[in-house]
Amino acid sequence: MNTFKRIGVFDSGLGGLTVLDAICSANKGLSIVYFGDTARVPYGSRTPETIIHYAEQDVRFLLSKGVEAIVVACGTVSAIALAELRKRFSVPIVGVIEPACDAAAKVTESNHICVIGTEATVHSQAYSDYINRMYPHLNVSGIGCPMFVPLIENGFREDDPITQMIVERYLSPIRNTDIDTLILGCTHYPFLSNVIQKTLPGVRLIDIGVTLSEVVSQTISLPNNISDNFVEYCFSDRETGFKRFDTEHLKNLPNGPIKSINIESF
Ligand code: DGL
Repeated sequence: MNTFKRIGVFDSGLGGLTVLDAICSANKGLSIVYFGDTARVPYGSRTPETIIHYAEQDVRFLLSKGVEAIVVACGTVSAIALAELRKRFSVPIVGVIEPACDAAAKVTESNHICVIGTEATVHSQAYSDYINRMYPHLNVSGIGCPMFVPLIENGFREDDPITQMIVERYLSPIRNTDIDTLILGCTHYPFLSNVIQKTLPGVRLIDIGVTLSEVVSQTISLPNNISDNFVEYCFSDRETGFKRFDTEHLKNLPNGPIKSINIESF
């Protein structure tokens, strides 16, 4: 196990805060730099080339802050760019896909899993490729839900009728099927977990932030002379959504400085 003094966590926007929250809930003594690329969200409707380019800039920014390991708190970047990032940077980099699939494979009883994510994620087949390789007895379906991220970034809450209509539109086709496990394959989606659960009663939801945070706890040992978590929150544009969010889903985030950075310069 490695000991890191400082880790970096990034996402295209606010979704990675659900991962950060899970990491902070499971660990104490963390020093973290969070980066949300609110100037360029959403990533999920972009080409792989653009997503890789953005992700490289995000990593370069975090390295400039002295982090020693990187958590890719974004399903889209994990699906499209993780291999490339690992080739180009020498620090340890962890992504969300494998832990989520392993957790889903463990709990499914019907052996039919569905992954929801951005268009780029579902199109990449990164989740289904991994499941087919590791768990060939499982069926895996995928649904792209491109309107979820803009809803969340624009502050539409779960109890808003528009949110409920859109969730119903994307997910009602799999209600009452043999799918018993749903991977929320985008880190924004836990903000919609209550309405998703209501739409698909009885289906187990896999939160990729929670499953990733378990990997972080197992692989990253932190200096144990600090008892609180320290987080510096950096955004490339507005962070108003962050202030607006939402103590129900983000219970474990410490207060910390909020900074604005110019991501194009990295
Ligand atoms: N949180 C990102 C993910 O996990 C959202 C992607 C986007 O910006 O479209 O995929």
